[in-house]
Amino acid sequence: MNDITEAPLLVAARGGRPSRTPVWFMRQAGRSLPEYRKLREGTAMLDACMDPEMVCEITLQPVRRHDVDGAILFSDIVVPLKAAGVDLDIVPGTGPVVAKPIATESDVKAIPELHEEQVRPVVDAIGLLNAELGNVPLIGFAGAPFTLASYLVEGGPSKHHERTKALMHGDPDLWHALLDRLAGITAEFLRVQVRAGVKAVQLFDSWAGALSERDYREFVLPHSTRVLRSVSGVPRIHFGVGTGELLPAMREAGADVVGVDWRTPLDVAVKRLEDAAPHLPKPVVQGNLDPALLFAGLPALGREIDRIKREGRAAAGHIFNLGHGVLPDTDPDVITRAVELVHRAA
Ligand code: CP3
Repeated sequence: MNDITEAPLLVAARGGRPSRTPVWFMRQAGRSLPEYRKLREGTAMLDACMDPEMVCEITLQPVRRHDVDGAILFSDIVVPLKAAGVDLDIVPGTGPVVAKPIATESDVKAIPELHEEQVRPVVDAIGLLNAELGNVPLIGFAGAPFTLASYLVEGGPSKHHERTKALMHGDPDLWHALLDRLAGITAEFLRVQVRAGVKAVQLFDSWAGALSERDYREFVLPHSTRVLRSVSGVPRIHFGVGTGELLPAMREAGADVVGVDWRTPLDVAVKRLEDAAPHLPKPVVQGNLDPALLFAGLPALGREIDRIKREGRAAAGHIFNLGHGVLPDTDPDVITRAVELVHRAA
């Protein structure tokens, strides 16, 4: 196979039947791998994301080890915000922390635009990776406006997103102005990656599942729709956690592939997506193994993988993945075995 457009992940993303079920894992690059921990020693997360050689090496590590069908660019959802000039950091064991949380109109107006030269190291890393990856597609990504807004408004990770929801309902105009700015940054970051040569993109709206469908439709959907519409030329994957109730609305945002966490069986998810938009082509899904199942032993893991593959046949195409990211304590050898089990014909 010399034509990357025939790579299993890209065939499935178009709604076709590839030669094998494509599989990659969110957070496949990272702390589960000893070679990652060794390389990252002494380098802060956001510095690592701006070092093209390091990004290239960390992105390749899981591809070499596990024979996955996709390489996810090593980066973070807050990279474009930091690059544009927002004062934030990633604190180990905590996540993104923002120096001055967003609360007022002047805070929103102070959020800068993103320009390509600010993320030049990411562009360079994509160039290095495409020279190394052969027929394994490189997946770029960005954080969706709502998930980014949650970090900016809360000042860091949040369980209940109470400040975010208070702003959304208390000052809808300011909320929409904030999401409009963030949609601009996200869209530009995705377009930069596509121009640099990624073969697919994923929009991470990790925390959207915290919202009711009603709030999602009113306060989030228009902005995510705008982001997805502004990206063309590669398949677009749209993912969130706990979004079983939001799947129909997320489909309306217009992505080519909808990510599903482990709470909703894939055949149920497909039915919801189809019922929501009978005029659209049959949906393509990504997911949805519970990351905790990688701790359950191979017999149980094998049974779950077979079930998910069976249920995934309800879709036009299925990209196998976890329902959320690899947990840091996961045994990397189990990840390798899981990939073999997904690839096994059945
Ligand atoms: O392998 C991959 O999936 C690619 C790399 C990737 C990272 N972050 C690297 C990372 C991706 C796709 C992300 C996206 C991301 N970042 C999301 C969306 C995906 C999701 O998990 O829902 C979110 C919400 C973030 C914000 C963020 N950044 C969190 C919650 C954390 C973890 C904090 C911690 O230490 O537990 C980070 C830091 C981060 N991003 C790490 C990695 C490998 C850990 C940093 C380290 O190794 O010290």
